[in-house]
Amino acid sequence: MASQDSESNEVSQVGGRRLIMVSNRLPVSLERLDDDQWRTHPAAGGLVSALDPVMRQRGGVWVGWPGVADETTETLRDVLDRQYNATSDYRLEPVALTGDDIADFYEGFSNEVIWPLFHNRFTVCRFEPDYWQAYQRVNREFAHRISEVAHTGDFVWVHDYHLVNVADELRALGVDNRASFFQHIPFPTADIFCNLPWWREIVHALLSYDFIGLQTVADRTNFLDVLTMMFDRVETEAGDRGIDISIGDEGLVRHQQQLRIGTLPISIDYDHIAEVAASEESVACVERFREGWGDRTVVVGVDRLDYTKGLPEKFEAFRELLTRYPELRSHITLQQHVVPSRQQVPQYIEQKEEIERLVGEINGEFTQPGWVPIHYIFHRMDQPELMAHYQVADIALVTPLKDGMNLVAKEFCAAKRDGNGVLILSEFAGSAAELGEHALLVNPHDVVSTAERIHDACRMPVEERRQRMQAMREIISAHNAFDWVEEFLRAAGANQ
Ligand code: UDP
Ligand code: G6P
Repeated sequence: MASQDSESNEVSQVGGRRLIMVSNRLPVSLERLDDDQWRTHPAAGGLVSALDPVMRQRGGVWVGWPGVADETTETLRDVLDRQYNATSDYRLEPVALTGDDIADFYEGFSNEVIWPLFHNRFTVCRFEPDYWQAYQRVNREFAHRISEVAHTGDFVWVHDYHLVNVADELRALGVDNRASFFQHIPFPTADIFCNLPWWREIVHALLSYDFIGLQTVADRTNFLDVLTMMFDRVETEAGDRGIDISIGDEGLVRHQQQLRIGTLPISIDYDHIAEVAASEESVACVERFREGWGDRTVVVGVDRLDYTKGLPEKFEAFRELLTRYPELRSHITLQQHVVPSRQQVPQYIEQKEEIERLVGEINGEFTQPGWVPIHYIFHRMDQPELMAHYQVADIALVTPLKDGMNLVAKEFCAAKRDGNGVLILSEFAGSAAELGEHALLVNPHDVVSTAERIHDACRMPVEERRQRMQAMREIISAHNAFDWVEEFLRAAGANQ
């Protein structure tokens, strides 16, 4: 265990103790340049977007991988200290991964096994025993790093599917700090989950946490079903902080007899998003974009490149719209931003080829002089530009086939300061549980209905657009990322 001397940016905000945030990915990725200089890049994805504002506010230590292979911990720590920690409100503590770790733990077990399985795509899973070995090894390595930085009483909060085994490994090292887990992705139904050859080991590992947070009631129900399938005596007792679970003697719960689980939908820093949207930089972008689009209806899509995001289905729905309603041609444009992600994983390489082929095909079919139906942009934007795209759009098309939450849906509403926009949202996104009543819900597999909903959105009276948008903005602002973290810490008993 580390000594008790603490740096100013680690100041604890959890009942006088430090918060040790742990995720596979740190909020910045490092890149070594040819001249041995280092460049930092902001990391992609909803986990980082949601946790960074929380850490800025609370301070603490964030343990994770800075996105680079085969560097020593000392080198990484030195670079992070110089390029990040010196000026940050919280401290980053690196975990070094080798090229083999990245191939077998990150790309392999995390992204070719758990990710597809938990998003209901078990036919693409590669259940390689070597991947499982690497997963256990790297989780152990994370636990070692945590044991080196954690003080007695620090609150350890582990995030996401890459690190399920961490609490178990911490216990094996004799670290008995409270350890909680939040799963950003969905939890699958029991019959899908059981396809995993190591599903029992994963459940045992989860039982080493004191508290587990899931995004939706459906995820919680699925997890409870799995427990019931595995153990004969599972008793549950609902309280105001979640559901307390006791498992009988045969439950083999190694470290404690009780576990609490809660439903805690993650959110965004609503005020910050609204502020960025109102900033000079973003407003200047808005003006430039509006000039470019003229009076065309703009439909925006913003997704990481991922087969769970339903990109081919979205393009097919847009094709269907243009086929059914030829009068819309040259009056509507889909602007689809795709953020590069997991570019070494075969399914992601295939997905990129598929969507680029489809965009080419649809644009080839419908383009007219002065009008291209789909603007496909493969890049990552900074916040002011992203907020400008949200503001300029009349409609956001958020149609994942399965998604833990989907923060883009929430950000679109927060950025829509004029309240005039329609959110078309997949019923399979976690955010549909909160926003479904006011968004236009679709089943993304049903391209005909999705096309019809886009058409409905185009014709929706301004008054109705504003009413629906206002309702969604109220829901999101009343439950922002800071409320989420407070609720999590309370439910997890972090202050006890
Ligand atoms: N994002 C970004 N720049 C971009 C596109 C997206 O910073 O060019 C951010 C976006 O603001 C959001 C996150 O990426 O916070 C995506 O999170 P989401 O929950 O929608 O999906 P995930 O990528 O986590 O699956
Ligand atoms: C999702 C996951 C995160 C992950 C992010 C980006 O949001 O829930 O855990 O960090 O995608 O994916 P990457 O593989 O680049 O970390």
